[in-house]
Amino acid sequence: MKISFSNESVKTVDCEAVAIAIAKDKVEQVTSLLGAQWTEALQQEKFTGKIDDQLILPSLGVCKAKRLIFVGAGNGTTNDIRRALGNAGFLARTKGASSVAVHSPDLTTNSIEPVVSGFFAGNYRYDRFKMTKDRKAPTDTLCIMGPEDQSLAAAAIHLVNARNLARDLVNGPADVIYPESLAQVARELADDNITVTVWDEHKIKSEGMGGITAVGQGSSNPARFIHLHYKPTGTPRKKIALVGKGVTFDSGGLSLKSSAGMQTMRCDMAGSASVIGAFKGIKHLQPDVEVHGLIGAVENMCAANSYKLGDILTIYNGKTVEIHNTDAEGRLVLADCLSYGSKLGVDYMVDLATLTGACVVALGEFYSALYTNDDALAADIVAAANQQDEGVWRMPFPDFYKEKLKADWAHIKNVGGRAAGSITAGLFLSEFVTDTKWAHLDIAGPAFFDKKFRYFTSGGTGAMVESLLKWIDQ
Ligand code: BES
Ligand code: ZN
Ligand code: ZN
Repeated sequence: MKISFSNESVKTVDCEAVAIAIAKDKVEQVTSLLGAQWTEALQQEKFTGKIDDQLILPSLGVCKAKRLIFVGAGNGTTNDIRRALGNAGFLARTKGASSVAVHSPDLTTNSIEPVVSGFFAGNYRYDRFKMTKDRKAPTDTLCIMGPEDQSLAAAAIHLVNARNLARDLVNGPADVIYPESLAQVARELADDNITVTVWDEHKIKSEGMGGITAVGQGSSNPARFIHLHYKPTGTPRKKIALVGKGVTFDSGGLSLKSSAGMQTMRCDMAGSASVIGAFKGIKHLQPDVEVHGLIGAVENMCAANSYKLGDILTIYNGKTVEIHNTDAEGRLVLADCLSYGSKLGVDYMVDLATLTGACVVALGEFYSALYTNDDALAADIVAAANQQDEGVWRMPFPDFYKEKLKADWAHIKNVGGRAAGSITAGLFLSEFVTDTKWAHLDIAGPAFFDKKFRYFTSGGTGAMVESLLKWIDQ
């Protein structure tokens, strides 16, 4: 992926396609770029520049590039530019355009990040297992026809690469991405500032991580606990821990899911993919913040030695959990990770998990549910997400719903009933957090799209990777 800058005209710039982003009701701007007949053509096609308007036309020799991609930039806000370029990136990939120039009448240096991050998010495909004939080339060179800033371009590319790693990991089938292979991806991020420690299933058990042990024991792919640790060169401004649910496949266990419910459950490690993706960003962006990444990686399988209904597990912090549904496994894995994270002396802990179907019912594919008791932390996370056009919605977090989690035989049970399913899952997690400000993000909706949504092709999205990197940098 390369970014170049040019002050040439749309007509002479040397690339396969030119993407032209036009704000709402500004179509006549095309006249000065290409000629009045192009404005007419756009009007004929009902292209008005509103958000998600898009049109791809052959250039018919009017410019050096073979194709013209017109995208609506709506009100021209930063996120409208992001979305316009996302659509352009998506269309460029359908044509296999490997070099694309971007023009918009009012590009500034502030547009560099949304242009780059939007374009390449739309350009992304997971085609590793497609036949060669069915693959289209990704765009490798993006030429921005606007003011130059190489360091902003480089920072934007790091965001893209961080997010794309998360998307690749989520899209990777469960026979490719399993606990040990996920750990291997984490290990490969180690450098002078990043250490990576991986515990195997024996160490996990002997250290008292009863949640990860139980959920992972039914699989022939044994569990891993992954601890990444980034230390900046100078004194850190703050210390944080990112915690990810890493269920590389969720069959539901003995509380087996239906085939339909299981089809895309390779996505159940999306929280951990976002943590690993964020670490790839951290590796290159080098924030002056100390960051821990904690991942419980397991396969939740239905087998002779699977954990059972009625089992009582002891979590890392000593609390006991009675099992009422083996499909509510993510919270058990996270319970160990959060207990461990609570002992690290961090200022903030943020966990990410495809935790509940209830969250998808409540908020759909755009919004992650945010649970926290810290108003400032909530505001900071929401602000970072708004900046990157990711949806985060703060949910109620009433202590009195903990009543629903009362167990007969242990401290707590692992399900709280159908009502408020995402909230009670969050309340369950709160039992395992001490001595730190904490936020829980249920990313079950935005982590994985069953079909194309906006400029994201179906599959993994790298939810919250860019937002977390922005939040860390705040
Ligand atoms: N991994 C699922 C949640 C999920 C569902 C993620 C759909 C993404 C899309 C989770 O482990 C699960 O199965 N949760 C149960 C909890 C219930 C048994 C209390 C659910 O949501 O049904
Ligand atoms: Zn489950
Ligand atoms: Zn799950």
